[in-house]
Amino acid sequence: MLTSKQLRQKYLEFFKSKGHAIIPSASLIPENDPTTLFTSAGMQPMIPFLLGESHPAGKRIADSQKCFRTQDIEAVGDNRHTIFFEMLGNWSLGDYFKKEQIDWMFEFLIKEIGLDPNKLFITCFRGDAEINIPRDEEAAKLWQDKFTSIGIEAKIVDNAEEKGLQDGKIFYYDATKNWWSRAGIPEKMPIGEPGGPDSEMFWDFGSALGLHEKSLWKDQPCHVNCDCGRFMEIGNNVFMQYIRTAEGFEELKQKNIDFGGGLERIMAALNNNSDMFAIDLFTKVKNKLEELTNKKYNESEKITYAFRVILDHLRAATFLIADGAIPSNKDQGYFTRRIIRRSVRFARDLGINNNFCSEISKLYIEEYQEAYPDLIKKKDYILRELQTEEEKFRKTLEDGLKEFEKLLKGFQIAQEKTGQKITEISGKQAFKLYDTYGFPLEMTEELAKENNLIIDKKGFAEAFAKHQELSRVGAEQKFKGGLADDSEQSTKYHTATHLLLAALRHVLGADIVQKGSNITAERLRFDFNWPEKLTTEQIKAVEDLVNQKIAEKIPVTMMEMPKTEAKDIVTVRSFDLEKYGEMVKVYKISDPLAGSEQVFSAEFCGGPHVENTGVLGHFKIIKEEASSAGVRRIKAILE
Ligand code: ALA
Repeated sequence: MLTSKQLRQKYLEFFKSKGHAIIPSASLIPENDPTTLFTSAGMQPMIPFLLGESHPAGKRIADSQKCFRTQDIEAVGDNRHTIFFEMLGNWSLGDYFKKEQIDWMFEFLIKEIGLDPNKLFITCFRGDAEINIPRDEEAAKLWQDKFTSIGIEAKIVDNAEEKGLQDGKIFYYDATKNWWSRAGIPEKMPIGEPGGPDSEMFWDFGSALGLHEKSLWKDQPCHVNCDCGRFMEIGNNVFMQYIRTAEGFEELKQKNIDFGGGLERIMAALNNNSDMFAIDLFTKVKNKLEELTNKKYNESEKITYAFRVILDHLRAATFLIADGAIPSNKDQGYFTRRIIRRSVRFARDLGINNNFCSEISKLYIEEYQEAYPDLIKKKDYILRELQTEEEKFRKTLEDGLKEFEKLLKGFQIAQEKTGQKITEISGKQAFKLYDTYGFPLEMTEELAKENNLIIDKKGFAEAFAKHQELSRVGAEQKFKGGLADDSEQSTKYHTATHLLLAALRHVLGADIVQKGSNITAERLRFDFNWPEKLTTEQIKAVEDLVNQKIAEKIPVTMMEMPKTEAKDIVTVRSFDLEKYGEMVKVYKISDPLAGSEQVFSAEFCGGPHVENTGVLGHFKIIKEEASSAGVRRIKAILE
């Protein structure tokens, strides 16, 4: 029996053997994509390349991508939903297409990892006359041939929604099921968005669950997409070949494959156990929770539910913090806070009254450290953030729950007096729970729901806005000056910015990159990737190094060269190389003491720069603050 670790490895090795470059998972927090808070599908970081830009690693790429789906928070607790998951992905960027993808998927699932082909079911796109996109008979036939090749008769059928399985193996469905784009169905896609028909693979837990022809919850025939629990999607092959235009749909410049399959779901299929939380990745944490609570995971429905929420949420929080989304009251950090607090609340229901989040996180870090080495590098930081957040929340949790009980009592008394049932918690009351006791609105909503109440959300928003207005005093002091200009002073700041980046890389590590820069004649502002506040020592070390380079009076030189030659000397990630043309300007600040080959700073840049660092004056960091999740901002001046 394969472990999850082996499955991840096997998948990557399999696609490597088919000529794919294996790339590391991108961050859960998308870079340069303000349209979305989190990476929620493996293809998200691939968008420019699906649209035709050339990928530095080639036309065949595979990875295991960390994903976070906020929309699934409420669904966690059943046997198959998690907000964090790993998506195994492979892409053809205008290279191979349907035939290879279906061949390889079949080979991987059946031969490589040994899934029972009798329990594998397939869906394909039915076609849609309105958008003039035909039924995908090609994919259906390709799958059929695969099954035939191992002696399984695979009937292709339609209308399963009404007629059920009809002894079929391959089913046609409409665009709500078999079309994929980031926006969903074709009608919802904005102009310029790529998408296409897809072909999904489902696992049949039927015999394991004792389910057969009827769906569990409707007196209707069961079919692969009926959501009764018998079938589970384990992977999706998207034939990404269209782009939405003002008129309708056009073929993309290139035909792409976008495959995504949930690692945890494929594991569940391998286990032939529809409870995704039964896979090995959760075992250690589950045991720990059983030990801490003195309860068994399967003891009752309520306990299983609480276990699953904690198992899922604290794993997600561990990865979110590692990627820079520290608990806060806005943006990505809000979700981190919400899921930690939700875990603590459910833990309390299970009888865990002491801090436990970091203990759980530690086990996850151990479980995942090989595949995601970042976790081990950031371990102390992750554990500290979890500990702080939990402590903060536990201080007010009991009081907040008491406040909620008081509220319920008040409702009861009022009801008895007036004979009128109260069904709503006011915005003001919900805001008090939020503001004074740290209850995320969604948590109050959940508590309300458990007591058959609703919340006046509009009232909450009003109370929230009023509070913000009151606290918005003493806005941050703004710097004078505005747009960049070419004055002598801002030229100096350009060069100082290069020195600053190089110094940050020396002090914090070579994976520091520029996330933003803004220069005026009065100061420089520089954003870079780093998850936490810099210490006083780090700030001083950076300042000192920049000032040392100024004191060394180093010449600044510029060379124009082909990008391919330049890329070995500049401090830039290979992904960002794509942004530049074939010939690039490189500004170098060479360290005279370290020999001519040792360069202190080399960057692609249009300039202008000073001729020698000696003219810069004294460099001073006047502010270091968070800019967004995982990104710090430095403001510095030359005196
Ligand atoms: N992009 C496809 C998905 O997320 C593979 O399902």
